[in-house]
Amino acid sequence: MNNKKYVLILFAAIVLFTYPLTAHADQKRENACITCHESLGEELAKPVSDWKGSIHQQNGIACDYCHGGNADIKLRDIKQLSQKQFANMKALAMSKSNGFIGVPVGKAMFDTCRQCHSESVDRYANSIMGKAYLDNKGGPSCVTCHDAHHNSMPEVPKVCESCHKDTTGFDQIDPMNVNITTINTLSRIRIKIAEQKARGNKPPLIPEFPEELDAFQIGFVAFGAVIILFIIGYITYILLEKRR
Ligand code: HEC
Ligand code: HEC
Ligand code: HEC
Ligand code: HEC
Ligand code: HEC
Repeated sequence: MNNKKYVLILFAAIVLFTYPLTAHADQKRENACITCHESLGEELAKPVSDWKGSIHQQNGIACDYCHGGNADIKLRDIKQLSQKQFANMKALAMSKSNGFIGVPVGKAMFDTCRQCHSESVDRYANSIMGKAYLDNKGGPSCVTCHDAHHNSMPEVPKVCESCHKDTTGFDQIDPMNVNITTINTLSRIRIKIAEQKARGNKPPLIPEFPEELDAFQIGFVAFGAVIILFIIGYITYILLEKRR
């Protein structure tokens, strides 16, 4: 074998060996938003650390999916950039012409989430609280309950306590769809809870006839009561007979 063949085989081996590595690196391609924001520290880096490990990060939903902009610029070594280069990179990534929308609030926030959660957004947008948010009347936004970057399911009623004093029954309704029907359901739930409290959660002494009992069950309980009364009467009769 001559030298040329050796070199060729060696080259082929290197390519075959490194290809999977480069392909992998390409899949996990750098996201300029993350690289730059991580380097900024404090408030501007917090979205990155919050987002890491979140359900969105696990599903590959990165910064630009919600904020727009261009995440595909090459930053190389960010610490080496001059002030001017840094400003240029920032402008490239976060310019309106590249679709950057900034911090979404109000209707813009709903539109952001609607791209992927249209059913949930419509449900909330038509609810009492959703309307109170859009009309600037103190209703909570999506991220009041789910957080902007570490999106999670909120603890109910803990998350409601900043705005509502009485959260009784809040864990039994859909907070994303509070409407007239919900308010009626809630007052029924609250009456039930109050009744249970009043009797200290102990079973009632006298059998009550809740609406769930049908005619047969009521008849059955009545029959039982007659038998018990009969037995009591019989015992009294025997005791009185003995005394004589
Ligand atoms: C080269 C650095 C750099 C890159 C790249 C970068 N940012 Fe920024 N970003 C900043 C700085 C610095 C600020 C602070 C506010 C300012 O100077 O405009 C900021 C602010 C923000 C804000 C808050 C804006 C506001 O109006 O309060 C958001 C949201 C944001 N960046 C998202 C992104 C997204 C999304 C990307 C990627 C598409 C990105 N950034 C890429 C440096 C960067
Ligand atoms: C699921 C959508 C979503 C993703 C993904 C997302 N953001 Fe945000 N971001 C928001 C929303 C909504 C707000 C507004 C928060 C508020 O109103 O309190 C926000 C606010 C911000 C702010 C303003 C300061 C703050 O913390 O409120 C910055 C800066 C920011 N995001 C940067 C980023 C960066 C960097 C990434 C990528 C790691 C990212 N965001 C990923 C939705 C998102
Ligand atoms: C580009 C698509 C995309 C955007 C935009 C987006 N999400 Fe998501 N979101 C997902 C995916 C994918 C999941 C994980 C799969 C699932 O559970 O639906 C998810 C999951 C969630 C979950 C958890 C749901 C669960 O069942 O555990 C919440 C809460 C959530 N997103 C809130 C938001 C909010 C609030 C916004 C807007 C600020 C938003 N998302 C924007 C794609 C998106
Ligand atoms: C008042 C608090 C609150 C607000 C505001 C809120 N959510 Fe939710 N969200 C919840 C709770 C609690 C659940 C769990 C519901 C359940 O288990 O029945 C939930 C469930 C979800 C889910 C899981 C699927 C589903 O529909 O049940 C998604 C996605 C979601 N919310 C996105 C959003 C988006 C987007 C917004 C804004 C348009 C929003 N949420 C506003 C509290 C809230
Ligand atoms: C940021 C403040 C805020 C948070 C957090 C919040 N709410 Fe509300 N809520 C409001 C506002 C504002 C209204 C509308 C009041 C009106 O227009 O009558 C409202 C109305 C309601 C109503 C109907 C009227 C009433 O007061 O009974 C229910 C039920 C309700 N919210 C449940 C919840 C639940 C459940 C949570 C937590 C998962 C929650 N809210 C979190 C602000 C908030």
